[in-house]
Order: sequence, then C-alpha cells, then structure tokens
Amino acid sequence: MIDTTHAFATQVPPPYPIHTRITTKEDPTGHRKGKRKKKMSKPTPIWLDCDTGHDDAFAILLAALHPSVKLLGISTIYGNAPLSHTTTNTLAILKALGLEQDIPVYAGSSQPFCRPVALAPDIHGESGLDGTSCLPVPDTKPRTDDSAVGAMFKALSDEEPGSAWLVCTGALTNAALMFAVHPEMAGHIGGLTHMGGAIGGGFTDAPMGVLKGHSEEEQAGRFGNWTPFAEFNVYIDPESARAVLSNPVIAAKTTICPLDLTHQLLATESVQADLLHGLQMSNGDGVGKRKGPSQVRKLFVEILTFFAQTYADVFGLIEGPPLHDPLAVAAAFIPGIFEDNGGERFEVEVVTEGAHGSSEDVREGGSQCGRTVATVLGKGMEGVRIPRSVDRVRMWRMIDECLARAESAPFSREA
Ligand code: BDR
Ligand code: CA
Repeated sequence: MIDTTHAFATQVPPPYPIHTRITTKEDPTGHRKGKRKKKMSKPTPIWLDCDTGHDDAFAILLAALHPSVKLLGISTIYGNAPLSHTTTNTLAILKALGLEQDIPVYAGSSQPFCRPVALAPDIHGESGLDGTSCLPVPDTKPRTDDSAVGAMFKALSDEEPGSAWLVCTGALTNAALMFAVHPEMAGHIGGLTHMGGAIGGGFTDAPMGVLKGHSEEEQAGRFGNWTPFAEFNVYIDPESARAVLSNPVIAAKTTICPLDLTHQLLATESVQADLLHGLQMSNGDGVGKRKGPSQVRKLFVEILTFFAQTYADVFGLIEGPPLHDPLAVAAAFIPGIFEDNGGERFEVEVVTEGAHGSSEDVREGGSQCGRTVATVLGKGMEGVRIPRSVDRVRMWRMIDECLARAESAPFSREA
C-alpha cells in the first residue's frame, strides 16, 4: 500500500490572472529584447508519443515547428479515442502543417498493459478530434517497416547519449514497453516528459472547475479529472505509469506536467482571438489588416473552440480549456519556462490498487487507483521534476509563432 498522506512543500506561487492577453509589447519573463546576438544551440531531438485529440494537436504543432526542436518521429496510442482514430488525427494534423511526408508516424499500443481500454469521447468527441470542419484528410498511412516501440527505440538510439527526449502526451504504455524491452534506454535518453497526474492538496491554485452535477463544496476535495483522485493519462494505464516513474534512472530525468500545472494554461476567449488572427494582427489596432484568418489558424482555433465547450459542459470550466499537452513538449526543450520552487524534486508513486473502470459507480466510488502521490525529496536529491507554474505569455507566443510558420504550408496557401 502506498502512503497517500504525502508531504510536498506547501509553498504555492501567487495567484495569476486567468484572463491573459498575449502581448508582444512586454515580456514578463524579463527577457531583454533588442539586438543582442543569441547563441545558437543545437535543436533538441524529440520523439513524441501521443493520443491525438485537441491538446495533442497543439503538442504536435509545437514539436514539429519550433526551431529549437528536431522532431524525430511520432508514435500514437489509444486514449482520447481508439488507436485508429488517434493515428489518423496525427496524420491529418501533420498534413495541415505540411509535414505529412517528413515526420514518420507509427501506430503503437491499442490497449493498456493489463486493463480494459477507457476513452474520452465526452471531451474529445467520437473521432478524438471533433468540432472542426477543416481537418484535412491525410494522404499517407502510418509506417509499418517497424513497430512503434522499435521505431522509437531506433530513433532515440541514433542520437548522441544524453541528448534525445521522449515526450508522452497520453498513457505511458508505449514508453513502458520500450523501457521494458530496451532497459539501456533509461540511461541513454536526455530525459522524459509526461503530461499526466494530479497532485492536489494546494500544490498550485490552478482552477479545476466544478464537475457537472457537483456542488462547489464537493468539488473542493477533487483534484483529478477522471476520478476525484486521478488524471486520465495515468488512470487508463496505471501499471505502465508506475513502471516508468518508479525507475530511478528515468525518474531522475523526468518532468511531469500534472493538472495542477496544465490548468494554468487556459485558452481563454481572448487567447483564441489572438491565435485566430495572429499576434502581429491581433494586438493593438492590427485586426483586419489582412483578408481573414489563414486556414491553419482557423483549424487550430476551431479545435480550441470545441475543447472549450466540452470543458465548460463537463467540468464547468468556463474561463477556457486547459491546453495540457504542449506543456510536456516545452518541458523537454525549454525547462526554464517553468518555475519549480527552487529545484524541487519528488518521488512519484502511482496507486494501482482499488476499483478501476469507466462506469460512473467505479469513478465516483472513492477508489484512489491511478492517483499520483508526490513526496518532496531532500534538497539535491534526484527525482521527478513537477513544476509549479509556467510562463503562460511565452507559451502562447511560441504557439502563435508556430502557427505563423505553418501558414506557408500548402494547406493554408491553397485554401
Ligand atoms: C490529458 O488527457 C487527454 O484527454 C488530454 O489529451 C491530455 O493529454 C488530460 O488529462
Ligand atoms: Ca493527450
């Protein structure tokens, strides 16, 4: 039994304004603008493992089009929708970005290690990416020259030791399989990032909404999004999450982005407007300087609009949907975008005991299965990084820049 009376430090960052407006006129990170020459460093090699739904689409955008990332390939996984859908969605997003022929995509696990499959149609729709009329139909198919785990292993091994990152934005099934078959990869990779988990207990003050049918008082003790205790990506395959996070070599180079962090990056209506027109156009008096939003911006903002509606309907989170997954990408190549309370590290244990399933009775029955229990470690000890906050303005700006890059792809030019 895991002791769930966890002991993480209680120092919480100050409250932040929810209604962020992205602005290029100030830089709250304090980064100086001007003509200072930047030292060019090599792009970070990243393998992305995702269950492409709405927020995974943004993770692909960031990984594929940020100049500081070299995207090695993508493996897909069941989760937001069945594997066949998440794979097609991945290829469709790459087509919209003009990269369908360039980034190899492999279909990975279609089910968890030892649990029945759970999906999230109430959040992402039946397709996993419902709500947009402009998602292109992919021309390519996933590669079959290797398995997803084999391709992930080969791509990561081909990079210099300590340089390549595995970024997971769904369940950890593919990742756990790779480390089980190739244990030497734990030492080889530069690091692993995962969007997953929920810490609770005042770890941050990110808004969680009020789950449909619950009162504010009932919501007060809930910090998961699939059960009161558990986040979806960890819940659906707790054994795989446990296998990865309990490996001390991997844990020491892992960053997790739990709900406590990702609910700080809300795509509010003003963020959506900024992304639709582009920051160059949206701020100040810029709106309307060109004919209308590009096709790729329309696509990504329709994705956000649908996501906003389901988060409002299901979680009562009316400020905007949390854009979970791109944070795991950012954690791999720009760790300084997060604040981690002076370098806190944690031991993370995943609860695998207790009732597990998709029925209302099980989900609301009090089981702690799928919970991530974080215990803060002594200063200087190695463990999992769990940031407390993120520079949201910088995140949105990077996403906007990636959308601007995507506008030169045929999808937008030929629309
Ligand atoms: C996570 O679950 C999925 O619905 C999202 O894509 C994200 O990865 C949030 O709990
Ligand atoms: Ca995801």
